[in-house]
Amino acid sequence: MTRVRSIVRGVGSYLPQKIVTNAELAKTVDTSDEWIQQRVGIKERHVAAEGEFTSDLATAAARAALDNAGLTPDDIDLIIVATTTPDYTFPAAATLVQMKLGMHHGFAFDVQAVCSGFVYGVTTADSYLKNGLAKRALVIGAETFTRLLDWTDRTTCVLFGDGAGAMILERVELADGEPERGIIASALRSDGHHWDKLYVDGGPSSTGTAGHVHMQGPEVFRHAVGKITDVVYKTLEQSGHTVDDLDWFVPHQANKRIIDGAGQKLGLPPEKVVMTVDIHANTSAASVPLALSVAVGDGRIKQGDLVMLEAMGGGFTWGASLIRW
Ligand code: UT7
Repeated sequence: MTRVRSIVRGVGSYLPQKIVTNAELAKTVDTSDEWIQQRVGIKERHVAAEGEFTSDLATAAARAALDNAGLTPDDIDLIIVATTTPDYTFPAAATLVQMKLGMHHGFAFDVQAVCSGFVYGVTTADSYLKNGLAKRALVIGAETFTRLLDWTDRTTCVLFGDGAGAMILERVELADGEPERGIIASALRSDGHHWDKLYVDGGPSSTGTAGHVHMQGPEVFRHAVGKITDVVYKTLEQSGHTVDDLDWFVPHQANKRIIDGAGQKLGLPPEKVVMTVDIHANTSAASVPLALSVAVGDGRIKQGDLVMLEAMGGGFTWGASLIRW
């Protein structure tokens, strides 16, 4: 019997040109390079230029993924952008990406699951592809998250950055006996009772403004490792794999200590963990595809590897996805 799977055809990313170091931030807010590196593991972050919007970052990442896959926009019929920072309240950033890629065909929409957005987007695309609603999906995590920051609040402004990453998924039918490929299993979770532990104090229906990020950092931290490992184990269980089978762990990049804690709890050797929080900071929905793009680009992730993606963030939302590359 044939098995329908969503396989990865390519990945790509884009980072704004401007880099802001910890030392530069320490000139305007009461913090230090030492505190940020010790507590979070961040050295620098990219910040979008004035007039550079989320859909611009997303489109650049999409073009890089298309190049990587050897495809053109004509080959894509679904675009999902995971973002918390769309250019406009509506239309969806995904439809702007569709326009910027010169597409008139297919369909496009955004998903909003904050830092878990890319994992939600990949899982959503997988369902659409498996249902036959599309043949090839462009899933993009893109954020101009720094636009939500209060640059006088040292508890949040040092943590985040801007960027975009993209992945192209294609529906294939695996023949009898053909080895497993593509998305093998996913697990998504949320619990809205935690909404005010990490939220933005604005929105079209409440204040009519975009608002600023507020976070009870230690509370989010307390939940993170347990929630991350729960969905990772659930995904492994569904697929009949164990932690030992994993070649790569590509986690959401919020805090090096959270990533180290999750890796240790899972029993993963550090060399199997992809870490980019030092150079990207927390780019919310863009963090996982940015990390993926780095690890594919430098040759670590190769065809045939078993890769676990995971993320956790505002909502709370959390999720994991297991992919045979
Ligand atoms: O992406 C979505 C998921 N988000 C996360 O996973 C983030 C989870 N939380 C965290 O990563 C950490 O909680 C933070 C990095 C946000 C904070 O680290 P922490 O070790 O939990 O520090 P804390 O909030 O307990 O603060 C410790 C001290 C405080 O000073 P006192 O009260 O001990 O005197 C803070 O005021 O550090 C102080 N502090 C800072 N000092 C220098 C807080 N921010 C800064 C700063 N620079 N930027």
